[in-house]
Parts: sequence; C-alpha cells; structure tokens
Amino acid sequence: MFLNGSINGSTYILFLLLSSSFLNSFKQLLQFGSKFSMLLEGAGKVRDIINHEPQEQGHKTFDRKIQGRIQFNNITFKYDKKEVIKNLSLTIKPKNIVALVGPSGSGKTTLGQLVGRFWDVEKGNITIDGIDIKELKMDELMKNVSFVFQDVFMLHDTIEENIRMGLDRSLEEITRASKKAQIHDFIMSLPNGYETKLGENGVKLSGGEKQRISIARAILKDSPIVVLDEVTSYSDVENESKIQKALSILLEDKTAIIIAHRLYTIKNVDEIIVLDEGEIVEKGTHSSLMNKGGLYNHLWNMYDYEVVEERGA
Ligand SMILES: Nc1ncnc2c1ncn2[C@@H]1O[C@H](COP(=O)(O)OP(=O)(O)O)[C@@H](O)[C@H]1O
Ligand SMILES: [Mg+2]
Repeated sequence: MFLNGSINGSTYILFLLLSSSFLNSFKQLLQFGSKFSMLLEGAGKVRDIINHEPQEQGHKTFDRKIQGRIQFNNITFKYDKKEVIKNLSLTIKPKNIVALVGPSGSGKTTLGQLVGRFWDVEKGNITIDGIDIKELKMDELMKNVSFVFQDVFMLHDTIEENIRMGLDRSLEEITRASKKAQIHDFIMSLPNGYETKLGENGVKLSGGEKQRISIARAILKDSPIVVLDEVTSYSDVENESKIQKALSILLEDKTAIIIAHRLYTIKNVDEIIVLDEGEIVEKGTHSSLMNKGGLYNHLWNMYDYEVVEERGA
C-alpha cells in the first residue's frame, strides 16, 4: 500500500502491539522483551504502518545533552507515488517554538512524524544537532523526541502506568508531572487515585483528560524536542484552559514543532511556517504574516479553518 514509507523495528513492534486487541496491559508489552524508552502517544496511523519492513537504525549517540537544533535539508517524501513533501528545507534553532500551519493535507503531520522516523525521507536528510537521524540509534532518537498527538492511546492499566509508559520513574515523579499537566487533582478525585484502572472495565476518560494524561507522559519523559500535533478544541472552557497551561509548561525550554489547528494558540511562537502542498510558502511572525496578506492571512479569515482541519486530520 504505502510502499515508500517505512518504520523502524522497535517502533514497528510497538505499533503492531498497540493496534492489536490482545494488548491488555503495558506489562504484556514489556514481556515482549522490548526495552522500551520511547513514548508514542498516538496510534492513529497504526493500520497504515503495520505492513512495513523495519528500517535500519544507526549506531550513533549524542555524547552530551543535546541543544535541540533540527534541520530539514532539501527533503522529499512520498507515501506512495504522490510527493507529499517537496524539496523542503528548514532550520529550527535550539529552544525555539515553531508552528506549522496550512490547509488540511498540506503535509504538517507528515513533516512532524519524519522527525521521529515514522517514515524515512526519500531525498535529503533531517539532522538533530548536526547528526542525520538515520545514523542515530533508535533509542537515542526516541529519548530525545516526544510526540503528543491528537489520538491519545490509553493502556488497559492503571493511571500510574499510563503516565509512566515504561520509563524508569518513581510515583513521586509521576505525581509531579501530573501536577504540571493539570491532571493531578482529577486523578486524586477518583476512588483509587493513581491506582485507578483505565480501559474496558475501568474508568473512561474524557478527551480533555486523555490529552492531559498524554501531556503528563511527555512532561515526565522530558525530552529536549517535542512535536505536538495540536488537539482540536474542547467545547468545555475549563478543559481548554487547563490544556493550554499544561502545554505551556511542557514546552518551557524545549525545541518544539507545533502543528497548529487553532491559529490563536500560536500567535506568540518564534516562527510560523506556512505549508501548502508540501512546500513552505511563507514564514515569519504572526504580525509579519498578517501584514503580508498571503495564505496565512487567508487562513485566519477562513471561518471554518478549524472545522476543515478536524475533518482532514
Ligand atoms: N499514511 C498515509 N498514507 C498515504 N497517504 C497519506 C498518509 N498520511 C497522509 N497522507 C497524505 O499525505 C498528504 C499530507 O497529509 P498530512 O501530513 O496528514 O497533512 P496535514 O497534517 O497537513 O493535514 C495528504 O494528501 C494525505 O492524504
Ligand atoms: Mg494533520
């Protein structure tokens, strides 16, 4: 089906397991022997990816804490025959927050996923602190990049394990992350607190609660690079403001790519990149792009931008 995309071994196994109904607990996943330091919140593309051959991983590691400079060097990518990203170059400076905006189908999600090697580029390369991500050990890449997606995958396990996600962290650290993610009070309101089971016979969470759990995971993981495929809005204002607060704490001191669905949330980012059909058509700050009167300005004026996005996501 999607012949030109591919996925690496451990990510592949994870996706495979996440997609299957027999995964009742994260512990079962661990029994599969994957020593698993990555964190993958979304399971939305699982079915697309299952049939892929595993990618080769590199051998390199960073010898110190990374700065978080990301460079896309003339990258081209296609899923099947159609080019989705076309000879695109972009540098994201350490600790900058860059927003990707553009019409539905313009390639925003794909570009974000390429940083985690969910797929490999066809031409060009992507580097982190100057190292081609294909030359990195997969663990090293996964340790340094976190994804927060729209589709939040929940394990049929306790809230504690759902936040820990296999990382070697104490309950105290989990509690601290949950407070920052604005979900601790909610967890404490449940009869069994952090021990509360989620899933089939357990408690069901609202979309906003799941989102905050996934932000807690990323805060706990604390990787220098965060890719955020931003959630569509929640009708309830309280959830919405909690999520915004949690996100701003998550992104403190990080290099971040925010795929923005609601333009008002990205007004203050360092740089806004406007994609159209896999190419960068504009970039700049909110005010410079508004003044320019191009696609960005047009998207702002489009009453149903967000609605279109939701359908296309
Ligand atoms: N897994 C996939 N297989 C094939 N085509 C895909 C896949 N994911 C996305 N596409 C296509 O790639 C293009 C870019 O999609 P995407 O990156 O999701 O855009 P955006 O996030 O801007 O809406 C669209 O034409 C979409 O239909
Ligand atoms: Mg998208």
